[in-house]
Amino acid sequence: MSPTPLVPPPCPHCRRGSCWTASTPPTCRCTPTRPSTSSARRCEPPDTPPPHTPHPDTAGPHPARGESPGGGGVTPLQRPPSPQSAQYGSCSLRKMGAMEALELLDQLVDESDPDVDFPNSFHAYQTAEGIRKAHPDKDWFHLVGLLHDLGKVLALFGEPQWAVVGDTFPVGCKVQKSVVFGDTTFRDNPDTKDPLYSTEYGMYQPRCGLENVLMSWGHDEYMYRVMKFNRFALPKEAFYMVRFHSFYPWHAHGDYLHLCSEEDLRMLPWVRELNKFDLYTKQEELPDVQQLRGYYQSLIDKYCPGQLCW
Ligand SMILES: [Fe+2]
Ligand SMILES: [Fe+2]
Repeated sequence: MSPTPLVPPPCPHCRRGSCWTASTPPTCRCTPTRPSTSSARRCEPPDTPPPHTPHPDTAGPHPARGESPGGGGVTPLQRPPSPQSAQYGSCSLRKMGAMEALELLDQLVDESDPDVDFPNSFHAYQTAEGIRKAHPDKDWFHLVGLLHDLGKVLALFGEPQWAVVGDTFPVGCKVQKSVVFGDTTFRDNPDTKDPLYSTEYGMYQPRCGLENVLMSWGHDEYMYRVMKFNRFALPKEAFYMVRFHSFYPWHAHGDYLHLCSEEDLRMLPWVRELNKFDLYTKQEELPDVQQLRGYYQSLIDKYCPGQLCW
């Protein structure tokens, strides 16, 4: 790893220079005031798994973070967690059921999405219903459509929208051309001049697997953490689709393949399948949520019941 610059450049967000952490790689921490968690109920990891019904499609337990997903003997690199993953990754902010989280999204319009100007909860039902029509036999996939954006509740917990929504991309390596606004967004980012992080592979090994790649923080990674922490009884494909659905440079443009393991490539068609419905079910005609709620509550009861830790 290369040393942290002694005098960091101005931060692209606050234009000061005092917000870079001393971690490697340096990370900006200048976000607006975060909500106090002192009054929030804290979650503890469950001692025993909840009584979920294992899904027949599940190909085994999802690997823990840092485990190689079968990338052929690649040693994961040691790296510090991002401030966001340290703050939110333990899912200790509050407790609520999945339906309650979905209803919270009634209050959120995604400013980064040019296609919708209605609350995100409608987008969740539209996506889920599109999947249900095309894949009537895969009820777990219907639920993925409903849940895929639930991580956006972070924007209601005090995170600014720019830190929650939008596309994601790997950090610690060269930003590929397909990253939206990549030419301007990273102009003042010291990583672009760093002798290691500015290279094609950066701090990674060839085909190390996306499991071992540090992605920019957003609602994908947060929801993946919530699903994993609460042991959702969904197949591996579901975890994967949620975790990487905003990684457009990869699933829509074919970049970053040099970091992918064989498993990543096996999962790619699933991420693309979700994306079809994520993108093309955004109609102004809003779904009848009252009529649909019963069906989706039954899926929640089957795969991720009760109070969840967020
Ligand atoms: Fe999303
Ligand atoms: Fe979405």
